[in-house]
Amino acid sequence: MSTPADAQRMEKIVSLCKRRGFIFQSSEIYGGLNGLWDYGPLGVELKRNLKNYWWRVTVHERDDVVGMDGAILTHPEVLKASGHVEGFSDPMIDCRTCKAHLRFDQLIEKKGVKQCPNCGGKDLTDARQFNLMFETHVGAAAEESSIAYLRPETAQSIFVQFKNSLEVSRKKLPFGIAQIGKAFRNEINPRNFTFRSREFEQMELEYFCRPEQGTELLEYWKEERLKFYENIGISRANLHVRNVPDEERAFYSKGTYDIEYDFPFGRQELEGVAYRTDYDLSQHQKASGKSLEYFDEETKQRFIPHVVEPSAGVDRTVLALICEGYAEDQAPDEKGKMETRLVLRFHPRMAPIKCGIFPLLKNNERLVAKAKEVVDLLRPHMFVFYDESGAIGRRYRRQDEIGTPFCVTVDFETLGEKDEKLRDTVTLRERDSMKQERIAISDLLAALSVRIA
Ligand code: GAP
Repeated sequence: MSTPADAQRMEKIVSLCKRRGFIFQSSEIYGGLNGLWDYGPLGVELKRNLKNYWWRVTVHERDDVVGMDGAILTHPEVLKASGHVEGFSDPMIDCRTCKAHLRFDQLIEKKGVKQCPNCGGKDLTDARQFNLMFETHVGAAAEESSIAYLRPETAQSIFVQFKNSLEVSRKKLPFGIAQIGKAFRNEINPRNFTFRSREFEQMELEYFCRPEQGTELLEYWKEERLKFYENIGISRANLHVRNVPDEERAFYSKGTYDIEYDFPFGRQELEGVAYRTDYDLSQHQKASGKSLEYFDEETKQRFIPHVVEPSAGVDRTVLALICEGYAEDQAPDEKGKMETRLVLRFHPRMAPIKCGIFPLLKNNERLVAKAKEVVDLLRPHMFVFYDESGAIGRRYRRQDEIGTPFCVTVDFETLGEKDEKLRDTVTLRERDSMKQERIAISDLLAALSVRIA
């Protein structure tokens, strides 16, 4: 259950995201488009760090996974075979009083009577199925034969390219195909900021295996994925695994786990890890008439592989990172008086900017030149930000608020003016503890690289 304090926390997070350039309402100057979001200068960095890290651990650091990048516009036959054209829908209801379109599960019930959650109206239409796919036309003629869909998940292009990917990569089972990309769903009620959007990104892995390996691999991938979230800075205490019961699972799935996160608006799904059996490949083999079988050299058997699918949402994970990192604590101001400090405690690996670099004074040429030397030293290795405006305390606060884990200050000691032994050393300040240490510029890159990696 979320409390008024949780709602207030969420409001502050949304406001920070806009104010500091993480996430903006899409088409804002035209009044916005519901369920669509644009990532600003910092949001795009955070998102990129997340996707790059997922790709690194899922593809680059493994011998058994290859990547792909499929088209967004999808042939209708693909989505007919997968079952999306027929069944990818939510039951929808209209409130005749306030004209709201509602998902059936959003209705509230009082004394056994269903009501509109917006106006309390009881004059509701019957439920009807609403297909969530966006339809478009390919080519000049808008006719039945030119229909295409914006993909509702990245997974289907992986299944459809299974044979090509297998042949070119010469992998043996078990092996996986990974993809990061956009997906589109015409959600009836987009809500909770970016949590339920109409355009979003997924990070999906289809891990193909022998039928007898499926159940064990489902457990394996659930654990791998939990480790992933911990490695990007989400505490285990805020993560929960829900074993999806039979009646909620797709009929072809032999087991599904939802990995959930405690958002301020409640415990909600971040990722699904599903054992989908051989359903998808069998469907595409049947519909296309092309064999999607695997030939096992050792046993000389031909069969359709089974698949375990960890499917994560980029936008939901970005939102979880922001919610997890958001904190207000107490820190001394310029005069030593305690004030509230707003800080995003991102894991250094995820932080958009890794290091802020400041000359103590902006009107001292030698300090500025030295600080720019530090920028040149670090910039090829990490995203840094140079800032010379305002008091040092204010500059620290600005970086705290956007989650920069380290700040370096070049001062008169760096120039050797106070103590020759301190020449070419700088102050390195850590965001969370606010502790400062003196470090030689020549040691800076190594020290930061270890802490960020
Ligand atoms: N291929 C399986 C699949 O797409 P899903 O549970 O429908 O499964 C996987 O979606 C993940 O994609 C979800 O766990 C969530 O993180 C993300 N996702 C799904 N719908 C979303 C939406 N409307 N907005 C943002 N993320 C969404």
